[in-house]
Amino acid sequence: MTALLAHLRRRIALEGPLTVARYMEECLGNPAHGYYMTRDPLGAAGDFTTAPEISQMFGELIGLWAAVQWQAMGEPESVHLVELGPGRGTLMADALRAVATVAPFRAAVQVHLVETSPVLRDRQRDTLAAHHPDVRPQWWNDLSQVPAGPALVIANEFFDALPIRQFLRGAEGWRERLVAWDQDADALAFVLSGAQAESPLIPPPLNAVPEDSLIEICPVGLRKGHTLAARLAAEGGAALIVDYGHDRSAPGDTLQAVKDHEYADVLADPGEADLTAHVDFQQLAQTCIQAGAVTFGPVGQGAFLSSLGIGQRAQALSARADAGQQEAIAAALARLTGDDQMGRLFRVLAVQHPSLPAPPGFE
Ligand SMILES: C[S@@+](CC[C@H](N)C(=O)[O-])C[C@H]1O[C@@H](n2cnc3c(N)ncnc32)[C@H](O)[C@@H]1O
Repeated sequence: MTALLAHLRRRIALEGPLTVARYMEECLGNPAHGYYMTRDPLGAAGDFTTAPEISQMFGELIGLWAAVQWQAMGEPESVHLVELGPGRGTLMADALRAVATVAPFRAAVQVHLVETSPVLRDRQRDTLAAHHPDVRPQWWNDLSQVPAGPALVIANEFFDALPIRQFLRGAEGWRERLVAWDQDADALAFVLSGAQAESPLIPPPLNAVPEDSLIEICPVGLRKGHTLAARLAAEGGAALIVDYGHDRSAPGDTLQAVKDHEYADVLADPGEADLTAHVDFQQLAQTCIQAGAVTFGPVGQGAFLSSLGIGQRAQALSARADAGQQEAIAAALARLTGDDQMGRLFRVLAVQHPSLPAPPGFE
């Protein structure tokens, strides 16, 4: 039995079954044994690959998106370029290289990385030191710690890693899905809480789903979305949120575990597999609007990147590449933009100060 499984068993014995959110928090963020705390899970040798790890084109285009937004903001002398959950720092390194052509923006930028994993902070430090030794990034555990001022915020595959709660609609009301210890099987198992007639946590339209529907809410994600949008509305700036998810709130179990690039059992290997859930972009956008910001999208990642010129960028890279590299560039382009790959499943939402015009990719 791993140390984290023993800890979970003890915690359940003392406190009773855990919400799915607490279980996710322990699996991903337990300070000693959590998935993100103990490893770099990205890339071919890890458990999953993200868009910035597939191709430099992704971070480059997002960097240029940020530069255009900065121009629309009136070119403030200083702007915080913030990334939430920056992984290996690859997106930020590619973005900074691309914006070297917009020298006044590059000079205005202060880099902030919001990252809770010490292992990934080290990776980010190494990546940025190797490619941009002049940049002095600052690290924070939460966006609320980033100093005041106009900001451009990027979050790629960040919100899907935040803990969700799951509720089943039964005849007598809502039952929360919980993680318990099954004595007979000597393993973790899902159980349901007692029924409650109403739950103030569950907003429309999810509160009106038919019987036997399972719904998900992400209170931590909504709180972070609110903090982000309130900040942009008060101090200026824009954010780009890219993630897999659905545009409209709908019932369904999207909690998933991934290990070695394969789906795995959510309860089988706590702390050894990535756990994520699809982002409910309708709830997230509503929260941002309530906080005083405006939103654009979500649009598909394929349409967004194409509108920013990924096709032309791929051609330019191919023009000075050998045959093997050309093949890799074409494969990366297809993977990032193809409808049957990441192009449709991944959604892009922009959140920004109400005074800004429609951002690039959403016109
Ligand atoms: C799926 S990875 C995505 C990494 C990167 N954005 C990319 O696209 O390659 C999720 C990232 O979010 C970080 N993370 C997860 N939960 C976090 C939290 N609550 N606060 C800050 N960072 C978090 C992880 O350590 C990791 O860097």
